[in-house]
Amino acid sequence: MNIAIDGPAGAGKSTVARKVAEQLGYIYIDTGAMYRAVTLSALRNRISPGDAAALAKHTESVRIRLQPGENGQLVFLNDEDVTDLIRSRDVTLLVSKVAANETVRSVLTDMQRKLADRKGVVMDGRDIGTSVLPDAELKIFLTASVQERARRRFRESGIQQGVTVEQLEKEIAERDRLDAEREVSPLVCADDAIVIDSTSMPIEEVVQSIVALSRTKLAEAK
Ligand code: CDP
Ligand code: CDP
Repeated sequence: MNIAIDGPAGAGKSTVARKVAEQLGYIYIDTGAMYRAVTLSALRNRISPGDAAALAKHTESVRIRLQPGENGQLVFLNDEDVTDLIRSRDVTLLVSKVAANETVRSVLTDMQRKLADRKGVVMDGRDIGTSVLPDAELKIFLTASVQERARRRFRESGIQQGVTVEQLEKEIAERDRLDAEREVSPLVCADDAIVIDSTSMPIEEVVQSIVALSRTKLAEAK
């Protein structure tokens, strides 16, 4: 089966999705990394997200490849390993504007659907359950309070990046707003998704509840 995990920034989607995939022997796909790779490429080529036509044309010319690595998924942009570069602040601050472009979304959605063709995939993002894989057998909407999500991001890299937790909270709230208000496949909880609020849940507990839900679904399908 396929598992869709959606939710706002910093809810724990990537961490949890990777561990769920490991436990089930599934393939993990981080769709946010693909939007980040397009954003990095646009930045390098000085294409503004405001220039929708130029951004659309550029997106059709870039090659993005995902590959399983020892510490998670590796991301290649035209054969260059950009796994670390796509996490930079510049990319984070721009990605939601790039992700609002209709062509960017349709190019990446097609790629994501192909990756999930043979099932056995845990895919995380914003629109997986609603738009990319509406037939996914299990859909999770993972959330947490914005304060907790900012604290998590701060613990991860706040000091190295020279930002305060308050600044991160503002930036995350703004990204949530852009993601939820865009016209094409906005961030929204699918009607048939199970909501997990991880504000006070440790990672392992979230992982175990999703693994248990998936085992129940598999047993029901037999
Ligand atoms: O990990 P983090 O929550 O910071 O974000 P991400 O999953 O790497 O996604 C970065 C951005 O890509 C999001 O804020 C969205 O603007 C966009 N995105 C999207 O629009 N649709 C997806 N399926 C995944 C990401
Ligand atoms: O992919 P997303 O942006 O939703 O979140 P993430 O990058 O997986 O998680 C953000 C940070 O929160 C990571 O450093 C996780 O280790 C941490 N986390 C946590 O402390 N408790 C959870 N229940 C989930 C994630």
